Amino acid sequence: MDRIYLDHNATTPAAAEVIEAVSRGLAEEIGNPSSLHYFGQRAKRRLEEAREEVAGLIGAEAKEIIFLSGGTEANNLAIKGVAEANAKQGRHLVTSAVEHHAVLHSFAALEKRGFEVTRLPVDEYGRASVEALEPVLRPGTVLVSVMLANNEVGTLQPVAEMAALCRERGVLFHTDAVQAVGKVPVDVEKLGVDLLSLSGHKFYGPRGVGALYVRKGVPYLPQMHGGHQERNRRAGTEDLPGIVGMGVAARLARQHLPEWAAHTQRLRELLQTGIEERMVDVKIFGHPQYRLPNTLCAAFGGTEGESLLMNLDLKGVAVSTGSACSSGAIEPSHVLQAMRVPAEYLRAALRFSLGKDNTEEQIARVLELLGDIIPRVRSLAPGHREASGVRPQAPGK
Ligand SMILES: Cc1ncc(COP(=O)(O)O)c(C=O)c1O
Repeated sequence: MDRIYLDHNATTPAAAEVIEAVSRGLAEEIGNPSSLHYFGQRAKRRLEEAREEVAGLIGAEAKEIIFLSGGTEANNLAIKGVAEANAKQGRHLVTSAVEHHAVLHSFAALEKRGFEVTRLPVDEYGRASVEALEPVLRPGTVLVSVMLANNEVGTLQPVAEMAALCRERGVLFHTDAVQAVGKVPVDVEKLGVDLLSLSGHKFYGPRGVGALYVRKGVPYLPQMHGGHQERNRRAGTEDLPGIVGMGVAARLARQHLPEWAAHTQRLRELLQTGIEERMVDVKIFGHPQYRLPNTLCAAFGGTEGESLLMNLDLKGVAVSTGSACSSGAIEPSHVLQAMRVPAEYLRAALRFSLGKDNTEEQIARVLELLGDIIPRVRSLAPGHREASGVRPQAPGK
């Protein structure tokens, strides 16, 4: 069976150039970048080359990049590190209701340590607003963290406007850009952010490696204690092969981003239009305009997302029900809840997240399968509203 992978927001398949670079790094770079001998110094050079690539992708300086184990660690370091370092100035923090759990749970942990956290609401599209942020900023506010792009519905937040307001008020601004990097242009200067998280495996790099951008002079406390790696900012021997792989992924993303974005957006539109034309009782989530080009989150009334996911998987199509990290949990998505999605659609959402190697033929196949699976799943659901669930097609459509 030819399988179709439409779960790129969960993780992306590493690019061929990345696999090659990681394998070579593992085989050839036998030294520890902290060692003073030839092998150590050569590894150190590879590390610094990768740092330049990652910095170049987001418009940062190489020394503002800290390598670490991924988006989760980057978010933990940014949020806890800044809160702890600035606790004397104030203990009030702000985030949004639709963040990834790595952000939400970092703030929850700080609340237990006596910090006060304000969570900004979002509109029906999952977008927070500068208007809602402005009145909650106060003299004791030390950090605002709002994601650049949402992993479940793809909505882009007005980060540049929020960061500008925070700068005016002397409040530090962090953004979780894990889903945005490699899909939309990300530039730390244009965004005006102080800290930014990214993760290699979301843009065709390796899993288990990521980076945190920290603007020069931003005070924060390291969260990992040990050796002097990463200029004393993150202890632990660097995952050199992974970092080299992420450097290559960053270079590829810089070269191909416009082409990848246009390709995935075209396929996403085919998928969305196909669904809207063929199905009844469908809700599309996420902002119509401010949205990642590759992401489509749709709820099919009268179904359970899990059941659709399993049925699609049996036919070789991989999708997700909202965030991969919360799949398996019984709780409906906190993102859809924050968007006030009506109860009957909360568990009926599927996330299709497309990638550079998906094709038009694959989208046609997925539409065909949905047209078969959805009415079947609906007809089995107790109290289903639509026996067929498929619009009669005009001949030739
Ligand atoms: C928005 C967002 N932030 C953070 C993460 C966590 O990144 P990682 O898997 O590298 O720990 C993810 C992963 O799904 C994500 O989508």
